[in-house]
Amino acid sequence: MGKDVIIACDFDSAEKTFAFLDKFTGRKPFVKIGMELYYAEGPSIVKEIKKRGHKIFLDLKLHDIPNTVKKSMAVLSRLDVDMTNLHAAGTCRMMEAAIEGLTRPDGTRPLLIAVTQLTSTDQESMEKDLWIEKPIADVVMHYAHNAKLAGLDGVVCSPLEAGKVHETCGKDFVTVTPGVRFADGDIGDQKRVMTPAQAKEIGSDYIVVGRPITAAEDPVAAYERCVNEFCD
Ligand code: C5P
Repeated sequence: MGKDVIIACDFDSAEKTFAFLDKFTGRKPFVKIGMELYYAEGPSIVKEIKKRGHKIFLDLKLHDIPNTVKKSMAVLSRLDVDMTNLHAAGTCRMMEAAIEGLTRPDGTRPLLIAVTQLTSTDQESMEKDLWIEKPIADVVMHYAHNAKLAGLDGVVCSPLEAGKVHETCGKDFVTVTPGVRFADGDIGDQKRVMTPAQAKEIGSDYIVVGRPITAAEDPVAAYERCVNEFCD
C-alpha cells in the first residue's frame, strides 16, 4: 500500500481550484473532490483534473437504497476516479450493491471506502439523535468490520482510530484519515487532530489535508512538508 497525501480541494469553483493546482509545477498531488466542488461544477471538474494527471478521491459519501447506490456508482466509475466512498450506515446490502455498480466490465474498479461515524458526531449526538446507545469506538469498529465483510477496501476514520481499524480488519484494509494538522499550526474546527508524522506512526495509509495546505502562505511548501513527514 503506497502511502500518500491527499489534498482536500474544498473550493467552490473550477477557477479557484485550477489557480490552486497551477502552483504545483511539476508535481501532481492526489486530490480530493468533495460535495462543494462537485455540486458547483459537475462531472467536468473530475474529467479536467484527471486530464491534468492527478489521482482523484471523489468524496460524495453515497447513502441511499441499494439499487440507487449501485446505479450511481456505475456512473461514477465511468469518471475513472481512483477512490470514492459511501456511508457504512447504508447497510451491508447497500455496500455490496455499491461494489457491483462500481465494478467495470473488465473487472477493475476504483477503491471504495466507507465513512463509519463522521468525526463531527460524538457520543452524545449519536445517542440523542440517532438512538445508537453503544460506545462510539465500538460503533466505528463494527461499521468498519461490516465494510470489510461487504468487500470494501477500507474506511475514512480519525487518525486516532487507524491503528485499531488495522487490528480489527487487517493491515491491508485501507485507512484514510482527515484531521491532520502541523504541530505548530491552527487546528480550526477539527477536534481530534494529529500531525502527519504521528499519522504515519499510527499506520494511516492516506492522510487528507485541506486548510493546512490550501490556506497556507506557500501551499507547495506546506504540501512538501506533509509528504516529507508522512511518506518518507
Ligand atoms: O481543512 P481540513 O484539513 O480540516 O479538511 C479536511 C477534509 O476532510 C475536509 O474536506 C472534510 O470535509 C474532510 N473530512 C473530515 N472529517 C471526516 C470526513 C471528511 O474532516 N470525518
